[in-house]
Amino acid sequence: MDGAAVTDAVNDSLLTPFSLAGVSLRNRYVMSPMTREFSSDGVPGDGVAGYYERRARHGFGLIVTEGIGVDDAAAVDKPGVPLLAGAASIAGWKRVTDRVHAAGGVIVAQLWHQGPLRDPRGSRHPQIEALRPSGIWGPAQGLVSISAEERAYFLPETRPMSESEIGEVILAYGRAAAAAVAAGFDGVELHGGHGYLLDSFMWAQTNRRVDRWGGDARARSSFAAEVVHLVRGAIGLRPLMYRFSQHKQQDYKARLAQTPDELGATLEPLVEAGVDVFDASSRSFDLPAFEGSPMSLAGWARRLTGRPVMAVGGVGLGKPFRPSEGGGALVEGVDNLDRVRERFAAGEFDLIGVGRAALNDPRWIERIAAGEPPLAFDPANLLRLT
Ligand SMILES: Cc1cc2nc3c(=O)[nH]c(=O)nc-3n(C[C@H](O)[C@H](O)[C@H](O)COP(=O)(O)O)c2cc1C
Repeated sequence: MDGAAVTDAVNDSLLTPFSLAGVSLRNRYVMSPMTREFSSDGVPGDGVAGYYERRARHGFGLIVTEGIGVDDAAAVDKPGVPLLAGAASIAGWKRVTDRVHAAGGVIVAQLWHQGPLRDPRGSRHPQIEALRPSGIWGPAQGLVSISAEERAYFLPETRPMSESEIGEVILAYGRAAAAAVAAGFDGVELHGGHGYLLDSFMWAQTNRRVDRWGGDARARSSFAAEVVHLVRGAIGLRPLMYRFSQHKQQDYKARLAQTPDELGATLEPLVEAGVDVFDASSRSFDLPAFEGSPMSLAGWARRLTGRPVMAVGGVGLGKPFRPSEGGGALVEGVDNLDRVRERFAAGEFDLIGVGRAALNDPRWIERIAAGEPPLAFDPANLLRLT
């Protein structure tokens, strides 16, 4: 199989195989989902296919695509963001998955609805307003990367989503998941982090509903659980991953869960609905999630749910991801994998996500495995598909 044989000069425990809900991965390195905006009209072309194919050929065990808009007009804003809605986008993604598979790779589609964070201005559907569970964008005082003018645009309260809008969006996820299967994806990841739609239902700050979609942590997860349930039906036994995070783009210091118990109550309905693997998004893979313990968000999710978990954040780079820089700062490449392997050996996670380092260098795994120094992150690579 092309690309399967990464020479393991450093005896790397992360280069061991893993079964992702029955799908064999040749190692535990995962290309983390990263929005690229190279899909005009929502359709990925040859450039996008080659970009993912190179990561498969050069050894990533699993690729999670950039966020892909579900089949709803209010899903995503930027016109270059890809979709899984309609024949052209399915055909475009089929070309991507065929090339990844020919290179020996495994690829899952990240399904995305931006909810409150969608900016209708300049989007494909500027007349359609952003969807917010309770009409609330986020706190007025949070730490954000956007300008004061932008925050002033988003802050005023709008109307809550109606019951029929909620039902429509759940169905849109189901259609997108079926489209992912038609496009040849090996599975699906739901983007349930960073303050986007699924997360905005789970986060008490943006979900003040008093109907069945709001209330305590468990009740706030009921929207996501319905989505998981429908997506599970659409993809059958294929792997279903779920990304969640403490931090939000409306406030990087925000927390989804204040305590491990609250995190458990938040994730439990998702396990029951059929999530196979959690992707615990964090700025740094070893950032302690709660006071009083060094354990990371991934470690807590693994302990609380009993499901396999992916950790992510700052792998291969000298500084953790700063959302306020949009990933666009020059960052020194470092081999910090000994620390990653220590946490892996301690049982904190099963898979390790690599974001900017993977975007920057398709050969990153080969370089690490050969004991070569990693490249610095070059922000110019955000503007091209290396
Ligand atoms: C340019 C860029 C785009 C991103 N887009 C997404 C996305 O579409 N979906 C998502 O879940 N995370 C997204 N992220 C977050 C990454 O998946 C990852 O969690 C984060 O960059 C931390 O990992 P790193 O330190 O290895 O880069 C993005 C990050 C960057 C730098």
